[in-house]
Formats: sequence, C-alpha cells, structure tokens
Amino acid sequence: MTTNFNFRAPPRIVAEVGGVARLGELARELGCKRPLVVCDPGIVACGIAARALDALESAGLAPQFFDGVAADPPVATVHAGVEVARRADADGVIGLGGGSSLDTAKVIALLARSSQSIDELYGVDLAVGGRLPLIQVPTTAGTGSEVTWVSVITNERNEKKAVYTPQLLPDVALLDAELTLGMPPRVTAATALDAMVHAIEGYTSRTKKSPVADALARKALELLAGNLPRVLADGRDVEARAAMLQGAMLGGMAFVNASVAAIHGLAYPLGARFHVPHGHANALVMGPVLRFNLRAATALYAELAPCVLPGRRFDSVAEAAEAFVATMEGLAGSGGLETRLGAFGVSGDDIPAMADEVITQIQRLIATNPCDLDRDDVSAIYRSIL
Ligand SMILES: NC(=O)c1ccc[n+]([C@@H]2O[C@H](COP(=O)([O-])OP(=O)(O)OC[C@H]3O[C@@H](n4cnc5c(N)ncnc54)[C@H](O)[C@@H]3O)[C@@H](O)[C@H]2O)c1
Ligand SMILES: [Fe+2]
Repeated sequence: MTTNFNFRAPPRIVAEVGGVARLGELARELGCKRPLVVCDPGIVACGIAARALDALESAGLAPQFFDGVAADPPVATVHAGVEVARRADADGVIGLGGGSSLDTAKVIALLARSSQSIDELYGVDLAVGGRLPLIQVPTTAGTGSEVTWVSVITNERNEKKAVYTPQLLPDVALLDAELTLGMPPRVTAATALDAMVHAIEGYTSRTKKSPVADALARKALELLAGNLPRVLADGRDVEARAAMLQGAMLGGMAFVNASVAAIHGLAYPLGARFHVPHGHANALVMGPVLRFNLRAATALYAELAPCVLPGRRFDSVAEAAEAFVATMEGLAGSGGLETRLGAFGVSGDDIPAMADEVITQIQRLIATNPCDLDRDDVSAIYRSIL
C-alpha cells in the first residue's frame, strides 16, 4: 500500500470530436493573440495544420508557424523553434501532432522567455520561472505527452534526455479524435503500443506506484486493448479513435507520475541510434521484457489481465499473469510492425554499446522496473529479438 505520493496533471482536458474548430476560442481565453503552432511536415501534408490555423484565424488571431519538428526531436529543432517564437514575438504555443511535436512545443513554451539553456533543464524540477500559455493537441494516440510534465529531447550525442518539470503541463489538452482518423495503420499500432506500455510500466512501477496512477493505468489499458482491433480494422471509426485518444491520455498521466521502466529503457537506444519510431521500439522489446519481469510481477500482471482479456476467467494468479504476457506478446506485430531488430539494421555487434547505454545512462528506468536487470540480461533480451 502506498502511503505517500505526488501526482501532477494539467488543469483542463477538453475531449471533443471536431474540437479543433474551437482552438481559437481556447487560445483567446488564455490571452493569446499571436500563438505559435508547432508541428512537423507530416502534420502539414495531411491537412491538419491548415485546420488548426484556420480555426485560429477565424477567431481573429494572428497565428505564427513552425513546422520544423523532426521525430525524436533533436535539440537543434528546439533551438530553431525557440528562435522562431522569439522573432515572431509569440505570446503562446500550440503543440499539434504526435509526441515529437508536443515535446518540442513544451520546451519552446518554456525557453522562449527564459535565460536558461536546455542543458540546464535535463533532470527533474530544474526550470526556473514560467512559460508561455500552452495548448497541446495530440494527433496520435499515443504518447500522452499532452498531459505529461516531461519532454524527451535527443541531444548532440544522440542520447535521449528528459526534462521533467511541472511547467511542461499545458493549460489545456485538447483531444479531437477527428485529427487521428488519418493515422496510417503502422503509426496507429506503434503509438497504441507505446500507450499500453505506459499503462503497464506505470502500474508495475517499483518506486512510484500510486492509487491515482493505478486507476488511470487500468482504465487506459482497457480502452486501448478494447479499441485497437477496431481502429486497425477501420481507421475511420471515430468512436474507437476517441477511446484510443482517451486511453493514451490516461496512460500518459499514469506513467509520468509513476514512471516508465525497462521497456522504455531498452527502447531508447533503438530510437536514438537507429531511428526506430518510439512506439515501434517499445513494441520490439515489450514481449521479452514482460517475460523477463514475469516472476517478479506475477501478481501485478494478473491484476492487469482482465483489462486486456475482459470476461476471461482464470484459475490462478499465475495463469492470469501468463495470459496477460502472452496477449501483449501477440500484440507486438499489430498493424504489420516488424518484430525483429534486423529490420532496422541492428546487428549483434551493436548490442554491447546499446546495453552499456541502458546500464549507464538509463539506470533510472531500471530502478523502477519490477526487478533489476544487469548488462547481460539487457544484452540477452536484445539478442533474443535480433
Ligand atoms: N513527453 C512524453 O510524455 C512522451 C511520452 C512518450 C513518448 N514521447 C516522445 O514522443 C515521440 C514519439 O511521438 P509519436 O509516437 O506520437 O510520433 P511522432 O510525433 O514522431 O510522429 C510520427 C509520425 O506520424 C505522423 N503523424 C502524426 N499524427 C498523424 C496523423 N493524425 N495522421 C497522419 N500522420 C500523423 C507525423 O507527422 C510523423 O511523421 C518520441 O520522441 C518520444 O520520445 C514523449
Ligand atoms: Fe513512451
């Protein structure tokens, strides 16, 4: 039983199908006249950026625009965005897109009027002062970044570095399922698996589990597992898309307060070194890490089994836990995702350096895992999916 916890969440979450049309009204309520829309070229190409800009202009605002975000946002992207915000005299920031855009938007909102450099922010609670008004609009379901107080940036040495500070929580998270209807199946599957891993790792956190995060994680997993087959069968199913978006949001709140663990720890080097999309990287290592953890996490995995296998009866805790792990293993290839590292050019020669990175740089994520992993364990997990 957890007696102490510290839970942070944004003050306002608006979930509304078609809600992007109200973006101008929401920005005006925050006092914005020249908000900077932060997105990537993919969000422009699929017409989502135009919808957001139209909504802002229709409300009489003068939106500014930065579409220079790249996946696993490199620090250079953040610098470029801060420069645009300053030059345009932006008085607010609107993150629009997947986690890469939302993470970039957060840090731009924080740095635009700050004298701190991003290097001073990596870590926990190191930012001084406020930020520009911030609205976050996710288009994947997903990272949950719209409700988290962390931003993950790739530094000059290709390492994923995290800024954790409550100023990164937005004023408003706007969930519009219509914006997710056009997500291709692979992006749908990869981002959904990321969200499911957030819920699982938050629920099994060794250090920061809390009753609030637990409740959110279970509901997240139920929504995500229940609706992933529907959105993969019909990407235009708006009700199922809305459920996925809500599941991802709940998973985000769970993990950021309870922490992710070894699945994310082993996924990070795949993203930073081989540009495996974040959700796909999690999907690749998820099965073997869950199986590795099974002995230490039997009771907790058994508690999660009904979320992914509703209505199934289990004769024992061990059977429920095994069914949970097997179900998750079965989801790893959803949407046609490759399940071997070789598909991304990773070879056996790369494993020692990746394992070193996990053990030295990302130790904090091992500390929250249900059990310890050493360098050999990490290497063996990578080798099992070569
Ligand atoms: N801060 C957090 O809480 C948190 C949590 C998990 C992951 N992350 C970070 O988020 C990033 C990954 O984010 P992601 O998985 O959402 O992917 P992403 O933001 O990198 O986007 C992936 C691709 O999908 C496209 N896309 C997004 N929405 C679309 C839509 N509706 N229709 C068509 N195409 C669309 C984008 O243009 C892009 O090409 C990583 O950098 C990861 O580290 C952050
Ligand atoms: Fe994640």
